[in-house]
Amino acid sequence: MNLTLKIWRQKGPQDKGRMVEYKVTDISEHMSFLEMMDVLNESLVAKDEEPIAFDHDCREGICGMCSLQINGEAHGPDRGITTCQLHMRMFKDGDTIFIEPFRANAFPVIKDLVVDRMAFERIQQAGGYISVNTSGNTQDANSIPISKQNADLSMDAASCIGCGACVASCKNSSAMLFVAAKVSQFALLPQGKVEAKDRVKNMVMQMDLEGFGNCTNTGACEIECPKGISIENIARLNREYLAATI
Ligand code: SF4
Ligand code: FES
Repeated sequence: MNLTLKIWRQKGPQDKGRMVEYKVTDISEHMSFLEMMDVLNESLVAKDEEPIAFDHDCREGICGMCSLQINGEAHGPDRGITTCQLHMRMFKDGDTIFIEPFRANAFPVIKDLVVDRMAFERIQQAGGYISVNTSGNTQDANSIPISKQNADLSMDAASCIGCGACVASCKNSSAMLFVAAKVSQFALLPQGKVEAKDRVKNMVMQMDLEGFGNCTNTGACEIECPKGISIENIARLNREYLAATI
């Protein structure tokens, strides 16, 4: 395939940034999207030009590092996958592809397509954990009965990889789906109930401090989430928050 790429270039956080056009040729439909970006970067380096900065790590849909807005959609046109799992067979020869960073005030651009998602880390640090007394008398986790339904729902919520696609897809740049997943995975388990009230209050407070927008139930986050996190988790987050604050 021969493709035209219109890619966001931005030297640094203070730079205004602009779209720059590039051509790539002989792209195999079996390549991943990031491999196609590698091909482009190798050609730029060969021409002594600055390669395009973009985030990636595992390239297996696990780490949540890759984060591109492709033709206006977080993680591109396929469903239930991350950018690193997107394949070029989703595009046609001669296509023009627009590639931008995830856009949200709480995710400032660091360079080109790389955004700062430390806001998510700070929300996690505010309560996305359980405190376990490791005095040596810790009860074996397997000795606490948990219903199959709650175990499954908790596991589903725990599959959130913190990629930020929910924020990038939301017209309000809301982080509710991410926070809801992180709160739900603990709220559904007995181990998470001990600190449940402080957890939900602190995580929601940090979410607001970071400048994420409000949720207006449009559901775009659920559609673009690569891990299929359900917005039912947002309803659970709201119930947990209400119970913690009255
Ligand atoms: S809820 Fe989905 S889209 Fe949002 S951070 Fe988690 S995995 Fe990514
Ligand atoms: S690079 Fe790890 S999820 Fe895409």
